[in-house]
Amino acid sequence: MTRPEPRVSAGTVPAQDADGRLALAPDHGEDAVPVLEARDVHVHFSGTDSAGRPVTIRALDGVDLKLFPGQISALVGESGSGKTTIARLFALIHKPTHGEIMHDGKPIRVRGGRAERAYYRKVQLIYQDPFASLNGLKKVRTIVSRVVKIHFPRLGRVKNRERTAELLEKANMTPSARYLDRYPTDLSGGQRQRIAIARALAVDPDVLLADEPTSMLDASIRLDVLNLLGDLRESENIAVLYITHDIASARYLSDQIHVMYGGKIIESGPTESIISAPLHPYTKLLLGAAPDPARFKGSGTPTHEPITDSRPVDNSSDIPGCRFADRCPVAMPKCTSEALPLFRSTQDAHTVQCWQAENAAEYERQS
Ligand SMILES: Nc1ncnc2c1ncn2[C@@H]1O[C@H](COP(=O)(O)OP(=O)(O)OP(=O)(O)O)[C@@H](O)[C@H]1O
Ligand code: SF4
Ligand SMILES: [Mg+2]
Repeated sequence: MTRPEPRVSAGTVPAQDADGRLALAPDHGEDAVPVLEARDVHVHFSGTDSAGRPVTIRALDGVDLKLFPGQISALVGESGSGKTTIARLFALIHKPTHGEIMHDGKPIRVRGGRAERAYYRKVQLIYQDPFASLNGLKKVRTIVSRVVKIHFPRLGRVKNRERTAELLEKANMTPSARYLDRYPTDLSGGQRQRIAIARALAVDPDVLLADEPTSMLDASIRLDVLNLLGDLRESENIAVLYITHDIASARYLSDQIHVMYGGKIIESGPTESIISAPLHPYTKLLLGAAPDPARFKGSGTPTHEPITDSRPVDNSSDIPGCRFADRCPVAMPKCTSEALPLFRSTQDAHTVQCWQAENAAEYERQS
């Protein structure tokens, strides 16, 4: 497996643009085949309402999402919006109630056997809590080399050892010899997350699904882990799904931002377009509530007033219109009575599900 050398050496900060954001990966054309894709995916669960009556929870309600090699796609939204369900769907932990998952342009229908094992290898989950995901009783060397041995049994002991050290270096644990004989309990939260990333890289994945990978880390080391993901995007040509509540970190790290609300992706597009010209009132809410974009070296301050309303989203009713209507300051009667169309920008890949786009010159109705 020959891979290009990392673009930056250990501990350095990857290239950034004039605004202090990580440099963007090149855009994929309209015809590019995504490495992973959700097509009109619905995931429903059985649950109960506050009175204990059975309800259907629409965790995902018609999601389209494409992940491309060498790109970081951020999934942003409040608690319960469906972010983890998307990661678990791509990891084959949940099955779609409706819709399809495509891998390299082919539907994933085969369950079990070699095809499923190959898929699990290609799509790796990075969890929120690195400590819970690592066996505290095993040395770092054992944690990583075991995965190398399972997936590359013919490597032999010496090559396995070399590969294990190389993976630690890729995760910026340098020099690797300093960490190989330590236990996860002897490492900081950021170092443990790096070990979790090194272990995920051990299987030579196409996709990393990183579900809030920095939310349990001290603010001082979050940036290191984000920079590592940014670096791997390019050096390993991996597709990264970066899940976060924090639109400021999504702005810093990602090429694309997808904003979720109530089981739907309600606004989506190139990061700069979402940040500089958000259209959906909920995206404006998120930008208005972003605590301090300057801490991710973004330029300027948010221009949108935060909407102060913390009512939880209702994802159990089957309504034809917009789930955000009861919180939306510019809602219209048709927002709740008519099916919500998708609008697409004529300038770029920016899409939005909101009637506000109907009167915006640069948007065309798609559905
Ligand atoms: N296994 C399950 N059974 C029933 N309901 C579920 C299950 N998993 C998720 N849900 C529900 O689906 C919805 C989406 O959950 P999900 O965990 O994807 O949200 P999230 O955006 O990741 O939230 P958070 O930011 O809190 O992690 C929520 O209403 C949640 O309660
Ligand atoms: S569709 Fe209507 S209610 Fe929903 S966000 Fe847009 S304007 Fe507000
Ligand atoms: Mg979650």
